[in-house]
Amino acid sequence: MGEDGRKAHQWTADKLDFLEKYIPAFIKATKRATKRYYVDGFAGPGINEFEDGSKRRGSPLIALDQEEFTRFFFVEKDADAFQALQEKVAAHPNAGKVTLYNDDFNEVLPKILWQIEERSPTIFLLDPEGLELEWRSVQAIAQREKADLFILISASGVLRNLENEHAHQTLAAFFGDESWKAIDEHKKVGMDRYHAIVDLYLEKLESLGLTVAKRVITAHTSKKVKLHSLVFAAKNDVAIKIAEDVLKEFQLPPGKRDMPRLL
Ligand SMILES: C[S@@+](CC[C@H](N)C(=O)[O-])C[C@H]1O[C@@H](n2cnc3c(N)ncnc32)[C@H](O)[C@@H]1O
Repeated sequence: MGEDGRKAHQWTADKLDFLEKYIPAFIKATKRATKRYYVDGFAGPGINEFEDGSKRRGSPLIALDQEEFTRFFFVEKDADAFQALQEKVAAHPNAGKVTLYNDDFNEVLPKILWQIEERSPTIFLLDPEGLELEWRSVQAIAQREKADLFILISASGVLRNLENEHAHQTLAAFFGDESWKAIDEHKKVGMDRYHAIVDLYLEKLESLGLTVAKRVITAHTSKKVKLHSLVFAAKNDVAIKIAEDVLKEFQLPPGKRDMPRLL
């Protein structure tokens, strides 16, 4: 991490561009709701620093500009990143609507869910660096009547750890079961192991009653090694349609987006 930001790559800019388009569309689509919420489970310090030295506000601050949200919940586990975020939030005109937690998202989620009405439209941005999002958290969110979820799946993190016994507990918490042990059996025609992992996760989301957008944004290294995929899932089809429309118009440079589902 830099002085007050986190080192970011082009992929981060793509992700933030997507969020900047999705949030206003979500607000427009939910204009009849009396309350709406934004939860950023892995919020970061609020600033991203790019390799060329430029800076860009992170997801929590992008959301915070939208005063149509009734309340915001930001969670960040790292003490330095949390402090940086806290300072940025305090300087924002909508600071009074924010609840900040310096904690593990998986531990604090029940407290957050308790404060949000079941029927209020809510965006959950779950953007960890690796395998920190536990399946029990996804399950708890999916039990709500309304939930729009953006989830970053670190499939390269799963791949790296498949043969690492020390990480098996982490994988079990990430998937909520042992399905990852049979990942090669899950491969469908044309799928590599990376895609099989994303596909397995998407199927698991569907098993919770969520609909998953067909388009998935995948980040690659400069050598075209796949890193992680941002997926969108929701309880209602209108949200899926909005996400699909944004994803369609969201033009990434060739080769930067993958659609495992469409293989
Ligand atoms: C990829 S960054 C988030 C970037 C942010 N979405 C943005 O747009 O700027 C992930 C953050 O999650 C934090 N983190 C890691 N494990 C966590 C956990 N269990 N609970 C909450 N935050 C966590 C990390 O410290 C890091 O700052």
